[in-house]
Amino acid sequence: MTRIESLDHEGRGVAHVEGKAVFVEGALPGEQVDYSVFKKKPKVEFANVTRIQVSSPWRTEPKCPNFGLCGGCSMQHLEPSAQVAAKQRILEDALWHVGRVRADRILPPIHGPYWEYRRRARLSVKYVEKKEKVLVGFNEKRTRYVTDMESCAVLPEKISGLIPHLKEMIERLSVKRRLPQIEVVAGEDCDLLVFRILDPLTESDEKIIREFADRHGVAIYLQPKGVDSIHPFHPPESANLHYSLLEFGITMPFLPSDFTQVNFSVNRVMVRRAIDLLAPRKGEEIADLFCGLGNFTLPIARSGALVTGMEGSAVLVERAKQNAGKNGISNARFEVADLFEKKGVDLSGYDKLLIDPPRAGAHELVQALKEPYPKRIVYVSCDPATLARDAGILVHSKGYDLACAGVINMFPHTSHVESIALFTLPGAT
Ligand SMILES: C[S@@+](CC[C@H](N)C(=O)[O-])C[C@H]1O[C@@H](n2cnc3c(N)ncnc32)[C@H](O)[C@@H]1O
Repeated sequence: MTRIESLDHEGRGVAHVEGKAVFVEGALPGEQVDYSVFKKKPKVEFANVTRIQVSSPWRTEPKCPNFGLCGGCSMQHLEPSAQVAAKQRILEDALWHVGRVRADRILPPIHGPYWEYRRRARLSVKYVEKKEKVLVGFNEKRTRYVTDMESCAVLPEKISGLIPHLKEMIERLSVKRRLPQIEVVAGEDCDLLVFRILDPLTESDEKIIREFADRHGVAIYLQPKGVDSIHPFHPPESANLHYSLLEFGITMPFLPSDFTQVNFSVNRVMVRRAIDLLAPRKGEEIADLFCGLGNFTLPIARSGALVTGMEGSAVLVERAKQNAGKNGISNARFEVADLFEKKGVDLSGYDKLLIDPPRAGAHELVQALKEPYPKRIVYVSCDPATLARDAGILVHSKGYDLACAGVINMFPHTSHVESIALFTLPGAT
């Protein structure tokens, strides 16, 4: 029997046995468990829990029957409030162990609905010859097998309810072996499925898919090749995909292949918090780095500040410009820029920055910052380790204070840690 000490960044219980770290799936901090090792390395072992001798008070019954097998969630067995606490601990540990920084203040965590929150997902599809049936779902943990699921508790109810119907429908298609993936996108007013197809559809396939779309009230898009080939199939006109940031009077149209935050309600709170921390004012010049389709840029512009969104994807920059126009915003401009460029981009003259990078973080960008430094930086992160690394540079090399930091539970029941941090220059207002 082994005592679990903590939870790692992938939601596994961590113990130390005879000098080795053991990562135990399904075990929670404080529990006494038996486990079975499935992978050994010289200094670490990976295991599955086999028996819980002493259970954590925070252990709860997973809602989903596929939990444990499905790779979509890793924390349904832990009370949601304890999940948030665990994520906060992961953030604080990373800030200290990687960046040697501590936040002056920890922000209250941002959380929203724990179920049916996931408005984008990539489902795998597999025709199983032996059983003559189609599987539609997330991949199983650590394998490329598709989970045999009938529903998913983190997808919106309507999309989850479509899973059995999708299986039946795809079984009737001639391309059932040539349809490996369905991208699910739930906008505020419409639901959309993008079928990746490797062979052309027959007339009969087309009829079956049209009937499916009409019966279930979803728009079907097809993707015969790369992402550029995504196009509406039925109905033939483009769907009205959008989300709104009500407080800012902003509606954000998007296309199925565009990056958008997956959890719209948490996104609204996150944007509000980012703007509060950034405190943009009329007359200031602000850069929104890794701006995507303008999720933060347009709300910043509402303050009257002059804002420049920079982003690597030309398609997203175009969308951001269109979205600014549609929302009547003229004080935002956008540039295509590679923000991983070694020498960094010229950020001189900006009063404040908002940085929202992908998992790799913004190392080049913060490293290349030159005096006079922006007086405030709000950093939104999807990986605590890279945030911590960049925080170390901002605090120890550039002289910023880490004024506050906190977690955002964007993906409940997964180990994904989204966070936000504010860096200020001492003495600057
Ligand atoms: C976490 S998303 C944030 C998007 C946006 N801020 C939002 O909230 O919707 C990160 C963005 O970084 C962009 N990106 C990835 N690599 C990049 C690079 N090398 N240079 C500039 N932008 C990049 C992606 O296209 C994506 O839009």
